[in-house]
Amino acid sequence: SLAGEFGVSDEIEELLLTLPRDKTFDGSSIYQYEGAWYRPIFLAGLISSRKHFQAKDSDVIVITFLKSGTTWLKALTYAIVHRSHHAIFDSNSPLLTTNSHDLVPFLDFAYSPNNNNCSEHISTDDPRIFGTHIPYSSLPDSIKNSNCRIVYMCRNPFDQFISHWKFLQNIAQEQSVQPISFEEAFELFCKGIHSFGPSWEHVLGYWKASLDNPRKILFFKYEDVKEDTSFHVNKLADFLGCPFSDVEKSRGVIEEIVKLCSFDNMKDMEVNKTGRFRGNGLKNSNFFRKGKVGDWTDYFTPSMSERMNKLMEEKFSGSDLTF
Ligand code: A3P
Repeated sequence: SLAGEFGVSDEIEELLLTLPRDKTFDGSSIYQYEGAWYRPIFLAGLISSRKHFQAKDSDVIVITFLKSGTTWLKALTYAIVHRSHHAIFDSNSPLLTTNSHDLVPFLDFAYSPNNNNCSEHISTDDPRIFGTHIPYSSLPDSIKNSNCRIVYMCRNPFDQFISHWKFLQNIAQEQSVQPISFEEAFELFCKGIHSFGPSWEHVLGYWKASLDNPRKILFFKYEDVKEDTSFHVNKLADFLGCPFSDVEKSRGVIEEIVKLCSFDNMKDMEVNKTGRFRGNGLKNSNFFRKGKVGDWTDYFTPSMSERMNKLMEEKFSGSDLTF
């Protein structure tokens, strides 16, 4: 049964039967709900978090389009928020011993019924930090209606697509599943059929919301953060209401955080080399591939880039958002 296959409840199983279904880059099924595509487990998480999650004004929600730097933004946010409490720079720093997905749990999993509402993963320290990929229009009401803050990050769709494709290829290999071809994956991407897709809807949803409500939503692009990480760390701390003091600035705390969370540093941490997501899930190493801007040029044919450029022009035109 679907429930057995995906470990979702009967309620979700029944819902899945009513939804449009397609497949994503690793060949597994995804379902369309309120305009976006989901793997069953994420759809179950979405529905469950909408029922059970109660945001507090002090919460911080790290939202990304997937493969746009979630692992990084979670680490940066955690380090900024907890810099004075948890000995972030010590040799037993939580960031050294724990993958950032375990420090900043996905709301979708934390509140999944399979997880007993997951008290084990929900920190009782305020401010709590959660992550999610849920599109703006489908967010739990309590996130929209409370004063909690959202930091959002997206990425150039060219690199995001390659990162997603490579990620699922690696996982398919680990699980000895035959992934679909690169060309087929690109086709699906262009049609917006991929987890949480279409990506432009996701990005534009948060972009517009951040323009309407800049105190609620801070909008970052991976490329900008990569280019000047210190500037964005400082901006994020200001936004979250925990600005760096002059003393901290002169002591180089911002640069320390940037270094701690840098791609090379995180990739080499023991927990990220040998550990697994939530103890027994994916290898953490899957979250660290190249961490570069522009890697797509090694994969796209000229006709693929042309199609992608046209698509982006069409989707982002009139939005002032460029990549
Ligand atoms: P690449 O596949 O292009 O290397 P997510 O965390 O949303 O799953 O995104 C994964 C992408 O972010 C991967 O991109 C990964 O290498 C990159 N990444 C992971 N940690 C990073 C860090 N600390 N700094 C910059 N990029 C990072």
